[in-house]
This record gives sequence, structure tokens and C-alpha cells, in this order.
Amino acid sequence: MTDQSSELIHGGLVTKSLDQLRLEPNLRGYDELIKTFKWSDADSLVEWFPGGKINSAHNVVDRHALGERADKVALIYDDGEGSVQKLTFRQLYEETNRFANVLSKLGVKRQDRVFVFLQRSPELYVSFIGTIKACAIASPMFPAFGPDAIRDRLLDSSAVAVVTDAELVKRVYQVKNQLPELKHVIVVDEADAAAGEVSYRDEMKAASAEFQTVHMDPEEFQFMLYTSGTTGKPKGVVHAHKGIVQQTLTSRWVLDMHEEDVYWCTADLGWVTGVVYGCLGPWSCGVTQVGLGGRFNPEMWYRAIQDHGISIWYTAPTAVRMLMAKGDDIPRKYDLSRLRVLYSVGEPLNPEGVKWALDVFDSKPFHDTWWQTETGSILITNFPEMPIKPGSMGKPLPGVEAAIVDEDGKILPQGEEGNLAIRPGWPSMMRQIWKNEAKYNEYMRNGWYYTGDTAQIDSDGYFWYVGRADDVIKTSGERVGPFEVESALIEHEAIAEAGVIGKPDQLRGNIIKAFVVLTPGFSESDELKKEIQKFVKSKLAGHAYPREIDVVETLPKTRSGKIMRRLLRAQELGLPVGDTSTLEG
Ligand code: WTA
Repeated sequence: MTDQSSELIHGGLVTKSLDQLRLEPNLRGYDELIKTFKWSDADSLVEWFPGGKINSAHNVVDRHALGERADKVALIYDDGEGSVQKLTFRQLYEETNRFANVLSKLGVKRQDRVFVFLQRSPELYVSFIGTIKACAIASPMFPAFGPDAIRDRLLDSSAVAVVTDAELVKRVYQVKNQLPELKHVIVVDEADAAAGEVSYRDEMKAASAEFQTVHMDPEEFQFMLYTSGTTGKPKGVVHAHKGIVQQTLTSRWVLDMHEEDVYWCTADLGWVTGVVYGCLGPWSCGVTQVGLGGRFNPEMWYRAIQDHGISIWYTAPTAVRMLMAKGDDIPRKYDLSRLRVLYSVGEPLNPEGVKWALDVFDSKPFHDTWWQTETGSILITNFPEMPIKPGSMGKPLPGVEAAIVDEDGKILPQGEEGNLAIRPGWPSMMRQIWKNEAKYNEYMRNGWYYTGDTAQIDSDGYFWYVGRADDVIKTSGERVGPFEVESALIEHEAIAEAGVIGKPDQLRGNIIKAFVVLTPGFSESDELKKEIQKFVKSKLAGHAYPREIDVVETLPKTRSGKIMRRLLRAQELGLPVGDTSTLEG
């Protein structure tokens, strides 16, 4: 560590000189704001239509395109292969208008579900925002998903349309006959749309660039995202237009967006971070955003920061660890001096990551932020004006009441570990789990929203992540449900039963590990394991397959036949096994 960075770390605290930020932070005086701020104070950050109506897409694009930012660059899209495309707010306005007209012409109705299943590209942003303009519910889908994952999502939501590309559409076709309500398959880059397909190119060319963004009730839905829980298939987390208030506020207060910033969020639009902070929030603040195509590649990432003059960077701990592992010589080859402030989300950020950044990015630490698909925006965070405690998630956003509670909703004394819970009522909170009230109610207990995470609070009011209270796996920051992986595994003919857990991993946070009982007649081999991995990848998703597979004779189950993942995990990690009274005898 250099002298410069060690100066900034005092007793585990990273203090910051405000000069480093170069601009006055948008949030000053946290200690006062936490006492005085009311949510209605944030309403003026967005534009409303008469009668209290709103549309998040109007705030994200139209208000800038029709105002002083019309010619400002909204999107710098770098495909990672040498081609860079720029869209001004005015161009983004016209393109999203065209797409809204395409949907209207197809007969897509208010609050119909439209899936956006695209690789990173300008069309991804255009179709996502255009769908919201046209008063449908936009649902982005991660491009690594396979046919089973696609079917589960489109079926559960009764989607009427999917926007996809010539490559990904093949996976849609594998399950299309199981999706009776899917009327329109819109294909982006095909020269001649096949029978029954809608050609994006032809329809966009024919569509008008004028569209009246639909006025919505703030409680109507703007987007939904499927996410994984402990049990069952992925569930549709639904977000209302009102959420844009908090998505804008946090982009200002937490990510510190200023007019002159160039901002880059590395998350894919298939995940909530990409939706909220790689599209909606930053554009609502009117900043220029970078979109980068291609896979993770350190040289390309640093080059993008240099070439586009990126000043705010939002990424994830696994990416930070991967960059660290590649060494410091690579970043030193690039001019990264435009960076002002760095953030991370999705899994615990190791203190080493915070400190590494101080060395490599000229004394700028990573600020850890905490939130979830369900919360719709950042709720707990390290703010630019505050010292950072490396390893801590920071403090609650003004307006957010966060606490550590027991199973009865009782607030635990400072320092104790327990359930991280939030008092319901923040504007960007999920409004429902699609068609599953029981699931929604599981989160809401004793007057609290239970996050599923466990945490503790220190004597300075900083929150520290402890772990998940359930079986949800975070692998490379991506959220995977063990049930989905188990379901895919047992579809393989060699597998009779499967139990899946997350196993801690230095680089990826966790890896997916499967324990399988083989069908009689099959025997364990490396080839079989490889084939099983390939099988799960092709059905479910490229990222959601077990990197480790153990063949076992039996799996621990409760008397009612449920696999006890907790026990598998304890055995794997050499932890105490705890209460086994419900174990099958
Ligand atoms: C985890 C991502 C530790 C946590 C925006 C949470 C974190 C889940 C952090 C939500 C953090 C998110 N430190 N863990 N700063 N941020 N998580 O829905 O377990 O993909 O419940 O949303 O990620 O994941 P999701």
C-alpha cells in the first residue's frame, strides 16, 4: 500500500477529502437529513402530469429531449469491438417513441407484459423504455437464460410479446408451443422476419417518431423482474411508476450524479442493477451513460474508462476481485484520472477491495451499496460525504427505517446479529409478487419488510452484512435459487435426486454446488459430471450451473420429504449441523 492511501485509513476508517470528489456532493448533512427528510420532499425531482399522473419514461427521456438537454449525449454505446455509437436524448426520445408506436400498432394494451430478451445493444434500452412509454409492463430477461428459464417467466406473467434477436430467438422457439398467450415475437436484427415474427427494423422504419407518453397512475406498473427465492420457481417482482422518485433521488444522493458526469454501470439490464442504475435513475438525472458490450475483460474495461472519460463507476465485488487478481500493471497503462467516485453492489465487498481501489484509482475507494430486486433502489449505503468503514454496507438512506429484528419483529440491541428489516412505505418498494399474494405476504411480517438477509449495526450506526437467512445463492453477484437448479438437474436421466447449496468461493463469492443421487444403472464419472453441467447450462442459464457435483448415496430429508439444504451446507463447510429433529429417520 502506498503512503498516500494508508494516510486515508485511520483505525479501519477510510476518510475522504472532499477535493477528491472534485464536485460538491449532492448530499450534504446526512445527520440532519436523517431526522428531517420526508418522502414528499423528493417529489419535485421528477415531472408530473396533471392530476398527479406520471410516467417514468417521461422522466428518463422525454423531459430532457424536450428541454435543454435535447442535444446532450444520453448513451455512449461501445460494442467492445471498436465501434462506438452515440445517441442524444432527442434521438433516444424519437427511437423510444417509434417503439411505443410499434407496440400500439400490434395492439399491446395497458399493463400487458412485454419481455425484452436482448444482448446489450442500443435496441435493448430503446425497447425497454419504449414499452414503459406505451403503458405496458417491461420485463427484461438476462440473455444467458435457457429455454426452461424463459418458459417459466413468460408463462407465469402471461407475456404477450418478446423483443429478441436472431440468436436468442432460437431459445424462445424451443418453448413457444407452451406459451399460448405469447402473440408477438419481435426480432431485432433479422433481415427477413420469419413467418409470424415482427421485424423490428421494418416496423421501426415505418413508425412515427411522435408519441404521446401515456399518463399513468403512480401505482401502475413500470417494470417487473423475475428473481429467485429459496423455494419454488422464480417470482415476478413488480415495480410501480412512483419508484422513479427514489430511483432519481438515490442516483443524485448516493451515486452523486452531476450534469458533467459520464457514468458507467457494469450490470446487465437483465438484473435490477442494470434496470435501475444502468438505465432509469441516471437518465432521470440527465447524465451521459456508457453501455459496454462484450464479456468481462480487464483491458477493455480500463480502456472504456479512459476513452469515454468515465467519472462515476458502479460495479460488483466479483468484478473488483477479478480485476484485483489480474494485477495493478494493467490499470497503470491507462489514464483513469477522470474517475471521481466508485461504487459496488450485489454481495459483500471485501475490505481488501476498498483498499485496493485507493491504490489503483488515485485514492478513490469503492463505496458499498446495499439493496435488492424487491427494494427497487439503494436503501443502505456509504455516502460520498461520509468516511467508509471497509466491509460495512454503510447507513440507511434518509427516509428509510432499517433495523435488526427477531422473528417476532422486536428490534434487537445494537451489535446483535439478526434479520435485516425495513419499515414498509419507501416509494420504490415492490408492489406485488406477480399473481402470488402469499409469497408477498411472506416478506411482510410484524409491520416489517424482512429482507432475507442477516446483519448487525455497530455503535456508529454502520450496517454490517452477515449472510442470507435463507438458501438463496449469490454467485458472481447473480441471484440463483437452489430449487431452479435442482429442478433442472433431476430432468437429466442419470439423476434421481438433487440438493443444491452455495459454497463460499474466494473469487465468485459463492459457487453452486450440487449433491446428486444417481438413477440405478448410472455410475459416477468425470464425463457424466461434465455432461450434467452442460445440460443444466443449456436448460436454465449459462451462469446457473453447478461448478461442483458430488455423487452421494442419499440426501438428508425431512419426514415430509423436503431436502435439508441447511444440513448439506453444514456438512460441506464443517459447521455445526444444528437442529435435526425433523430429519427423516
Ligand atoms: C445481496 C441486487 C452484501 C443480499 C441489487 C441481497 C449484498 C441480495 C449487497 C439482493 C451488499 C446486495 N453487501 N450483500 N452491499 N447488496 N447484496 O435482488 O443478499 O440481485 O439480499 O439485488 O444481494 O440481490 P438482488
